[in-house]
Amino acid sequence: MSGIKNRFVAEHVRGLPRSGIRDFFALVQQMPQAISLGIGEPDFVTPWNIREAAIYSLERGRTSYTDNLGLLALRRTVAEYVEKTFGMSYHGDKEVLIGIGVSEVLDTAMRATLNPGDKVLYHQPCYVSYSPSIQLAGAKPLPVKVHEEHNFALQVEDLEAAWEPGTKALVLNFPTNPTGGVMSREETEKVAKFCIEKDLLVYSDDIYAELTYEGRHVSIASLPGMQERTIFLHGLSKAWAMTGFRIGYACAPQPIIEAMMKVHQYSIMSVSIFTQEAAVEALKRSDDSVARMRDSYHRRRDFLVRRFNEMGLTCHLPRATFYTFPSIACTGMDETSFCQQLLKEEEVAVVPGTAFGHSGAGFVRASFSTSFDKLQIAADRMERFVDRYRK
Ligand SMILES: Cc1ncc(COP(=O)(O)O)c(C=O)c1O
Repeated sequence: MSGIKNRFVAEHVRGLPRSGIRDFFALVQQMPQAISLGIGEPDFVTPWNIREAAIYSLERGRTSYTDNLGLLALRRTVAEYVEKTFGMSYHGDKEVLIGIGVSEVLDTAMRATLNPGDKVLYHQPCYVSYSPSIQLAGAKPLPVKVHEEHNFALQVEDLEAAWEPGTKALVLNFPTNPTGGVMSREETEKVAKFCIEKDLLVYSDDIYAELTYEGRHVSIASLPGMQERTIFLHGLSKAWAMTGFRIGYACAPQPIIEAMMKVHQYSIMSVSIFTQEAAVEALKRSDDSVARMRDSYHRRRDFLVRRFNEMGLTCHLPRATFYTFPSIACTGMDETSFCQQLLKEEEVAVVPGTAFGHSGAGFVRASFSTSFDKLQIAADRMERFVDRYRK
């Protein structure tokens, strides 16, 4: 479902597609008995100490606006956390902006830095908002396909081939939604070198960094010469199971944060104070909870990837996130028919790969942020389905 016909709607919005995930899940919601592997959020409730911090904040009557940049205590906590975890040093007072999730800080970053007609590279398949956010900022998206044979890591040769004169920026999301792909340090270094050569700004969405199961995530912002040209975007939705708190942040050189603050100030004003106070608690005292949730996802990942490969849905090992991205080639079906038929016949919901861009053709996204019991039932049903349609 895309496009809107109404003379009052702005032209640049008219042509934007609705998120394919939303449409599909409107359908799933009419089937309460279906098992959904489609969700993109943790199945854990937010750890208690974080919820308690939000309650305590309200109890103390903390109900005001905050500084437009966000609570100073949170900005300083973010700066400490980012230094400890990723090795980048930002000044909490002026190089950090707190926003409503990575969704908002990404949009704000683009609106603050892109001029009409600028071109922006992004790798695909990717999170659904990148291309629309680039377009809403008046710029032109330039997709770069990532391939299964490279474990969905971005190859600099593909970036070079997609680059055009007038390209201003690159969106990078590793670990990636929907593929679970990660980049090695060497691959990231090559991309960084390219960005420096072409004088690109990088929007680096590192929201899944803490859900890395093998190795350690290296943010492009931490590589030499990159911090000055990177807007580092992160948030608490995924690893801290805080999607409903709506907390994200951007770290960048002060003039960029200042520009972002203007956009944020006039559209958002400031994020709720009690969720910001809860975020301080999350970043200071929740490492154990994050590790426990990560261990649980890790076990579920191993199970689901093994089952997919056994049933013939070839599936690369996602080294991070809570998504698998198996190929459905063995069924000979296209991804939309596969998802619709699977839902109808076996009541299991997975998302067509093309919801994440045309480069997702031939794949589906199945999330393992669902209980082990449900994953087992879903895998049995999917195996039955694949056996029925195997070519
Ligand atoms: C890659 C990526 N970036 C950003 C977001 C949005 O997260 P937030 O809840 O912080 O707005 C998501 C949510 O699914 C995501 O997968």
